[in-house]
Order: sequence, then C-alpha cells, then structure tokens
Amino acid sequence: MRKTICIIGGTGFIGSHLGFHLANAGWRLRLPTRRPHRHRELRVHQNIDLREANVHDPDTLRELFDGVDAVINLAGILNETGGDGFDKVHVELPRRILAAMQETGVSRLLHMSALNADPAEPHSRYLRSKGEGERLVMQADDIAATAFRPSVVFGPGDSFFNRFASLLRMSPLVFPLACPEAKFAPVYVGDVVEAFEHALRHDDDIGQVHELCGPTVYSLRELVRFTAHQIGQHTLILGLPDFAARLQARLLGLLPGKPFSLDNYYSLQKDSVCSQPALPEMGIDPHSIECIVPAYLAERSPRGIYQHYRRLARRGGT
Ligand SMILES: NC(=O)c1ccc[n+]([C@@H]2O[C@H](COP(=O)([O-])OP(=O)(O)OC[C@H]3O[C@@H](n4cnc5c(N)ncnc54)[C@H](OP(=O)(O)O)[C@@H]3O)[C@@H](O)[C@H]2O)c1
Repeated sequence: MRKTICIIGGTGFIGSHLGFHLANAGWRLRLPTRRPHRHRELRVHQNIDLREANVHDPDTLRELFDGVDAVINLAGILNETGGDGFDKVHVELPRRILAAMQETGVSRLLHMSALNADPAEPHSRYLRSKGEGERLVMQADDIAATAFRPSVVFGPGDSFFNRFASLLRMSPLVFPLACPEAKFAPVYVGDVVEAFEHALRHDDDIGQVHELCGPTVYSLRELVRFTAHQIGQHTLILGLPDFAARLQARLLGLLPGKPFSLDNYYSLQKDSVCSQPALPEMGIDPHSIECIVPAYLAERSPRGIYQHYRRLARRGGT
C-alpha cells in the first residue's frame, strides 16, 4: 500500500529535492506552506498535495497529520527575521509537531537537525535552538524518531555555492571572507534525500542521530576559491582577521535578509565535520562537490530542481 507522509518545511531547498524524489518513487506527500503561490511547480506532481497552512497552529497540525504514516520536519531558518525567531521555528514548532503526532497517533518522525547542534551551546542561538529541538524529538514519548545532522548541503538551488557565486560576481577582484579556516564537509542533497528514504524504509534507524557529510573536508577559503574557479574568476580571497570578521558580521547583520550575522559568525567557530559519518553505513557513497557543482553553477537556474526531477520522472527514474 502506498504510504502518506507530511513534510513540514517541504518547500525549501532540501524539501523540494526530497519531495520530488519521494513523490516520483510513489509516496503520497502532504506539503504545508505559508506561500503556495511560490511553489506552483510542486503542485503539478500528482503525488504532492500542496496546502496553504499555518503549521504553528495545533488544530492545523492535527488536520495535516490525519491519516499519515510518518512526519518529516525540515522547517528551519539560518537567521531571525520579522516574527520568525530561532526558538519559535526550531523548538516551539517541534514541540507542537510532537504534541499533534501524539494526539493523532502518528509515531514515525524524521527530524532535520544540524551538525554541532547542542542545547548547551553558549554563543550561537541557531545551534542552541537546533540542539534543543533535537533533544525534544529524541526524548519524546511514543515517537519513533530519527534525527539528521548534515554539514552544509549542496545541489541545484542551494544557498551556499549559489550565494557565494553571486557575491563573487559582485566583488570580482578582492573578496573579503570571514572565518576562512572554518571547516566543512559539504554533503550532496541527493545523498541527504537517500538517507531520509533509507530511514523511512528501515526501522533500524529509529532512535538514531545520523551525521551526514560528503567525502572531503575543506576550509571555507578553499570552497570559495573553488566557487570562483567554477564561474571563471581569479578573485583574490582575502581572509579577514577575527576582529574584522566580527565587525563584518555586525554590519551585514543590519542589512535586510542578513547576508551574514553575528550568530552565523558564532556557528562558524565550530567545524562542520562528522565524527561518525552515517552515509557509508547506510550503503550510500557520498558525491563530491567536484562531480556535482560545476554543472549547476554553469546553469545558474533556480528552477533546476523542478526540471531535474521532472526529467527523471519522465524517464521513470527517481
Ligand atoms: N541547507 C543546508 O546547508 C543545511 C545544513 C544543515 C541543516 N539544514 C537544515 O535543513 C532544513 C532545511 O534546510 P533548507 O536549506 O531546505 O531550508 P530552506 O530552503 O530555507 O527552507 C526552509 C523551509 O522551512 C519553512 N519555514 C521557514 N520558516 C518557517 C516558519 N517560521 N514557519 C514555518 N515554516 C517555516 C519554509 O516553508 P514555507 O514554504 O512556508 O516558506 C521552507 O519550506 C532546515 O531545518 C535547516 O536548518 C540545512
């Protein structure tokens, strides 16, 4: 029998990849969003039920979970804007999701956390709230949870390589970079999606917190240099000393959309690398940035996600 899943945060970068992948594989998906008009492409898939909904409302959550076999929570923010605070999205929302699941008798939950998430983190409120949300989920009664902690996730439509490519185009000669020695093990969104599907299909994953990393660790400086190379620029990457990085974070944090903030600066003080990489244990061979990024940075098409999955669906693959 085909199973139904509700994905909270299923309209974002990772959610769109996961949604198309699971829908193409035959799962029925219920995707709530605050802004359905922005995600018309998702509506086109016969297995995706895109609904306008306020997921912070307990009655709405209960309606969304009625008759579903599992819930996936991907909702997250990297910076606080308007009424969206870290605690509201990363702690209060998981608490409400858990309550609605318990009330509707849905037990299976896949929850997106982040590497270095820690309820005792003293500086980064992003990491602290992510840690608190993960703790709630993993300790909840009557909930069979699996949590995922990815390093930075890349793929068509990402906001890492695409963002740096845009910034480099604006500053083609010299690029001032905060925290140049921060370490990452970028993980391909297709591998993240496979890990989620693995957890849906294997009960052994219940109770696990999976760290998701790509095959190679890079410094931020190396990743920005790689991006510049892909877009054909010979930009000088100027690593900022610590005081200048903090100043840059304070100033950019005042701009609309906060391209970089003091909280981002604090998150970068911890290397985003795996101590126990889960992908190989799941039988997933992680893709490198070198074999994936060049194609989509060359395409520069934010609609690449939809086109990619539509092509796959036509070919009968996932
Ligand atoms: N991308 C990465 O490199 C990375 C790395 C580590 C962890 N993560 C985690 O992975 C998850 C997904 O990341 P992503 O890159 O796909 O994010 P994204 O593209 O920014 O998408 C965020 C999703 O969360 C929803 N959302 C945002 N604020 C919300 C709010 N206040 N209330 C309800 N829903 C809200 C959005 O739904 P609407 O349709 O309603 O806007 C959207 O579907 C997040 O939890 C993030 O922390 C991502």
